[in-house]
Amino acid sequence: MTKGIKIVTIGGGSSYTPELVEGFIKRYDELPVRELWLVDIEEGKEKLEIVGNLAKRMIQKAGLPIDVHLTLDRKTALKDADFVTTQFRVGLLDARSKDERIPLKYGVLGQETNGPGGLFKGLRTIPVILDICKDIEELCPNAWLINFTNPAGMVVEAVLRYSNIKKVVGLCNVPIGIEMGVAKLLDVDHSRIRIDFAGLNHMVYGLDVYVDGISVKDKVIDLLTDPANSSFVKNIDGLGWEPEFIRSLNVLTCPYHMYYYKKDQMLEKELKNYETGETRAEVVQKLEKELFELYKNPDLAIKPPQLEERGGAYYSDAAVRLISSIYNDKRDIQPVNTQNNGAITGIPSDSAVEVSCMITKDGPKPIVVGELPVQVQGLVQQIKSFERVAAEAAVTGDYEKAILALTINPLTPSDSIAKEIINEMLEAHKEHLPQFFQKVEA
Ligand code: G6P
Repeated sequence: MTKGIKIVTIGGGSSYTPELVEGFIKRYDELPVRELWLVDIEEGKEKLEIVGNLAKRMIQKAGLPIDVHLTLDRKTALKDADFVTTQFRVGLLDARSKDERIPLKYGVLGQETNGPGGLFKGLRTIPVILDICKDIEELCPNAWLINFTNPAGMVVEAVLRYSNIKKVVGLCNVPIGIEMGVAKLLDVDHSRIRIDFAGLNHMVYGLDVYVDGISVKDKVIDLLTDPANSSFVKNIDGLGWEPEFIRSLNVLTCPYHMYYYKKDQMLEKELKNYETGETRAEVVQKLEKELFELYKNPDLAIKPPQLEERGGAYYSDAAVRLISSIYNDKRDIQPVNTQNNGAITGIPSDSAVEVSCMITKDGPKPIVVGELPVQVQGLVQQIKSFERVAAEAAVTGDYEKAILALTINPLTPSDSIAKEIINEMLEAHKEHLPQFFQKVEA
């Protein structure tokens, strides 16, 4: 990498890009990026221009020799890349809105990465990421693929199972968000906190939490019963936990557990949002409009604080510290999505898990967990089954597999409702699901 590091970001027109750019600027001394290629598709062209120009102004203001390229030509961008980051959304926010709204008509939680919403986001996304993997294989076979695209767990599962790319890491801001949140609750610096994470993406638990190496788990669990402390991301309102439940669960939850352990209350909230036109997709659509208006301002040369209203806070810290640790062989501990390789007993070795890992130049090495506590093991395994069947449905376009995936998801009440939802959602997302509609005649 003597020429300097080449980063390619697919979905570069995303409103999150200034977050990433801020991270590269902050860590430039340890991660000398020379080229940043922001790639998008025709529909994202205008956003790419706006956010790309802001990225250029941010880098110019920082006085750094990073060349920013904006392009719709993915193949040109990928040539000889060192790191490829993915943050795209197939079907844009309109598709997210359908993912959230349609299930609610059937009394099922609509959410971006969980239940039917997560399934359909996966069905749309997996064929695209597998295409990107083919391009990587051809144009930059030594690159690391750092995936931030949701549903990140299912996407990494599909890459590991259905592509030839081995150098893939899935990244989520939830673990770092929990660490930051806990640090704030305990009023200590983030660097003093360590959490042993294990599970799956958006289904991850903190098995223990330490300040300066001393466990403070009981104290943190007590704090989680306060609704104000029970979610650490902006996109999910914490509803607090019953003290008896959370104490006997005896591990730290992640914000997405609200959808599983508080199904009825979360559904009630979502149904209200459905009525008022304030599902998360709709809130984010408004927020995005405001953000892009700000980004257009030629005098703006920093990441505007309003971006922190999005759920992906600390994304840049998580992404850039990961890239830097791979590049510098730092061998520090970070929670990422990677191949299990026996770290968590009871999850297939070749499946993706989200787990604390040592980050080396050869990628993440999971810290061995062994068996998950019995009280959480079942749900984690069930979600893994869902992710695997969903990934298979995405690759094959098999209608029956899609119904199977949704039926085994714990948020779905029955096979019949699963089928009705699948039928309506397949039709609604038809344009982005060619694998289900273009069957080759036998
Ligand atoms: C969380 C998740 C991300 C997700 C984001 C949504 O923090 O970890 O995977 O993309 O929130 O945020 P948004 O502002 O789009 O609702």
